[in-house]
Amino acid sequence: MKIAIVGLGYVGLPLCLQFARNGVQVIGLDIDPAKVTSINAGRSYIEHIDSNAIRESVQNGSLTASADFGRVREVEAVIICVPTPLNKNREPDISYIIKTGEAIARHLQKGTLVVLESTTYPGTTDTDLREVLEAGSKLKAGEDFHLAFSPEREDPGNPDSKVARIPKVIGGLTPACLEKAKALYGKAIQTLVPVSSCRAAEATKLLENIFRSVNIALVNELKMVYGAMDIDIWEVINAAKTKPFGFMPFYPGPGLGGHCIPIDPFYLTWKAREYGQHTRFIELAGEVNTAMPEFVINRVAEALNAKQKAVKGSRVLLLGIAYKANVDDDRESPSYRLLDMLKNRGAHVAYYDPHVPVIRPTREHPHWAGTKSIEWKKDIVSGFDVVLISTAHKAVNYQELADWAQTIVDTRNAMVGCNVAAGKLWKA
Ligand SMILES: NC(=O)c1ccc[n+]([C@@H]2O[C@H](COP(=O)([O-])OP(=O)(O)OC[C@H]3O[C@@H](n4cnc5c(N)ncnc54)[C@H](O)[C@@H]3O)[C@@H](O)[C@H]2O)c1
Repeated sequence: MKIAIVGLGYVGLPLCLQFARNGVQVIGLDIDPAKVTSINAGRSYIEHIDSNAIRESVQNGSLTASADFGRVREVEAVIICVPTPLNKNREPDISYIIKTGEAIARHLQKGTLVVLESTTYPGTTDTDLREVLEAGSKLKAGEDFHLAFSPEREDPGNPDSKVARIPKVIGGLTPACLEKAKALYGKAIQTLVPVSSCRAAEATKLLENIFRSVNIALVNELKMVYGAMDIDIWEVINAAKTKPFGFMPFYPGPGLGGHCIPIDPFYLTWKAREYGQHTRFIELAGEVNTAMPEFVINRVAEALNAKQKAVKGSRVLLLGIAYKANVDDDRESPSYRLLDMLKNRGAHVAYYDPHVPVIRPTREHPHWAGTKSIEWKKDIVSGFDVVLISTAHKAVNYQELADWAQTIVDTRNAMVGCNVAAGKLWKA
C-alpha cells in the first residue's frame, strides 16, 4: 500500500514513521522545502523524534518526502495534518486545509481515500474540504472518492504516547468511506474507534480538548482561592488524586500553551454561533486561563516587593520557554506573554531553557526571535533578582536553583522536594 501524508509537523511526521514501520510506502508532502530536505537526508527537526528512525525508513525505501503534490496520483490514501490556528480576531483559520484540498484535488484519482486529521469544527470535512476536493477534481465524494475524519491524539514529550497504541477515532462520509479508513489505519494502529460520521469524529476531538481547557481553568481558579486561604493547591490535588474513582488530576500553571488547548475550543465557539448556541463553559475557561499570566506577574511583583524592590529595573530570569515540560515546542507558550508583561513593566528579562537554546521566529512574538538562553552557571543565575519558573523541565537542577537564586516564583511546583531557604520561594 502507498499513501501520502500532507504536513510533516508534530502530528504528520510520527504518523509517517508509524505507517512506514508497518510496511506501508509513505510519501510525506510539505510546502516547507527545509522539512523535505531534512527527511530525505534522514535528519529530524523535532527534538523528541529520533533521526535514526527517519533514516531507517528513508534508507529502506518506505519513506520519502516531497513538495510535489502531483505524487498524490500514485497513492491509495492521503492523510492531511496541516495547522488549524486562529486568526487575529480569534476565529478559525482553515485556510491551510483549504489550500491543501486544492493542491490535492488536481491530482485526485478515482477510489482514493482522503482523511483529515487537523483539529477543526464539525462540518469542515463534509462541507468545506469536500467542496474544494469535488470542485478541483470533478469527482464526487462518497461515490468517486472516499472521505473521512480521524483526529490525532499525539502527546508530545510523553514517552508512553506511542502512535500505535493510542486508540484512533474515525468517522466516514459514508459507511464505505469508514470501511476504507478503517482498513488504512488498521495497518498501523492497534485500536480503532469508529463513529457514525465525520462530524461526530470532529466533535469528539473538540470534547477532549475542551475537557482539558475547562479542568485546567478550574484548578487555576482553585489555586488562587486556596492560595488566599494559605492552602497549597498542589498538596490538595495530590491528595485528591488518591481517590480511585470519579477524579482525574489536572494541574495549574502560568496560562495555556501549545497548538491545541488554547485554540481548539474556540473553533467550536465560532461554529456554535451559527446555530444560535453559546459556549459559556468554554468562554469562562478561556477567561480564567488567559488571566493567569497577570496573576503570575502580580506574584513576581509581591516577591520583589518583599525585598524592597520594584519590577521596574529588576533583573528577572524566566525558566522555560517551551509550553510544556521536556519538549522544545514553544507554540502559544505563556512564557512569551510573561516576558512581554515583565518587559513592559520595565524589568530586564532573560530566559533559560535547555530545550530552546535560541528562540526561533514565531508569528505572534517575532520580537523575541534570536534571543539566546543564558548559561546555567551559579554566578549568572544568582545575578537575577528573581527566577520565574514557567516550565518544569526535568533537565533543570532545581536544588542548584534553590541554592543559587535570590528569589524564586514557582508556577509548576517544580521546587517540591528541594531544600529552599525560608522566604525565598513564592508559589504562583
Ligand atoms: N501537536 C500536537 O500535539 C497535536 C495534537 C493533536 C492534534 N493536532 C492538530 O494537528 C494539526 C497539525 O498540527 P501540528 O502540530 O502537526 O502542526 P505543525 O505546525 O507541527 O505541522 C504542520 C505542517 O504542515 C505544513 N503545511 C502547512 N501548510 C501546508 C500546505 N498547504 N501543504 C502542505 N503542508 C503544509 C507545515 O509546513 C508543517 O510542516 C493541527 O490541526 C493541530 O491542531 C496537533
